[in-house]
Amino acid sequence: MPAKKIVNPVVAIVGATGAVGVELLQCLEQRKFPLKELKLFASARSAGKTMEFRGKPLAVQELTEASFDGVHIGLFSAGSGTSKKFAPAAVKAGTVIVDNSSAFRMDPGVPLVVPEINREAIFTHKGIIANPNCSAIISITPLWPIHKKNRIKRLIISTYQAASGAGAAAMEELRESTRAYLDGKKFEPKVLPHPYAFNAFSHNTKIDPATGHNEEETKVINETHKIFGDPDIHIGITCVRIPVLRAHCVSVTFECEKPITPEEVRELIAKAPGCKLVDDQVRNYFPMPVDASGKDEILVGRIRRDLSDTTGRSISIFSAGDQLLKGAALNAVQIAEELVR
Ligand code: A2P
Repeated sequence: MPAKKIVNPVVAIVGATGAVGVELLQCLEQRKFPLKELKLFASARSAGKTMEFRGKPLAVQELTEASFDGVHIGLFSAGSGTSKKFAPAAVKAGTVIVDNSSAFRMDPGVPLVVPEINREAIFTHKGIIANPNCSAIISITPLWPIHKKNRIKRLIISTYQAASGAGAAAMEELRESTRAYLDGKKFEPKVLPHPYAFNAFSHNTKIDPATGHNEEETKVINETHKIFGDPDIHIGITCVRIPVLRAHCVSVTFECEKPITPEEVRELIAKAPGCKLVDDQVRNYFPMPVDASGKDEILVGRIRRDLSDTTGRSISIFSAGDQLLKGAALNAVQIAEELVR
């Protein structure tokens, strides 16, 4: 049975005080999300704090299993552990969850959605809809119109990831460690495993010894297969953190089944929902985190032939997208909008 439209909902943000939580609140406000009431939840540490929504202060409450009584839509962004712990109580209370964590993404019964790609999957939900990994969203949203026209059979991705993906504390660590570096002071990293200022390091998730890939890389591979509904795309990927606050960059080379030209790709990207072409070869002006930060669109450019493929089937592009917006909060709110539309 198709999921019913939710009218005038009570909406809850779980993890409201976090880097993504703050953006969820702002997206709801800026996009004039039609809601009756907004509730804010976080850990006991934040209980009693206030945040502003539509010009009024709202108190943050401690999340408990009883928090979901009367809540129609729950936007979760408090980490996998919290999602796993509280999702059963929320679903039991009749709340539809849009979950930003990785807890349920690969569950075959849970739709994993980028609205520009597989919007219709939303309506198959059984209480939980998963929001994909930020690097996956930013890498593959521009590729979808190309894939539909000329199937992509192979992808090579390198990411340049911002601090925000590791949460508000990692963003603060980048600021503090940069200040310390410039002042010539010693700084002990607490959130990330390596010095962040003026450095770059392999993504801070666990490596699977069987594949040599870290969890971030594995997520992008698996989630791309699920969102595109095409498990046969061959994907090679390297994920790296760079000292940028909130926008990820991705270098993507893709090989299509049939020959394709940079001009064709440029045309498709210029019309791709959720994307903006930034491809000025004369001025050497291409997607950058400073331009992508705070923007809804994924910036896409550097569109050129991959010269290592002499068959004319491969193209390289470079994109930048706001990790907190399209990579997380905005995508989740877009999903929620479909539930109330
Ligand atoms: P709190 O601020 O009270 O710790 P980030 O991704 O920026 O690190 O944010 C994580 C978010 O998840 C914060 O809002 C944090 O709240 C919240 N959070 C973490 N653990 C829990 C928990 N056990 N229950 C509810 N919220 C949690």
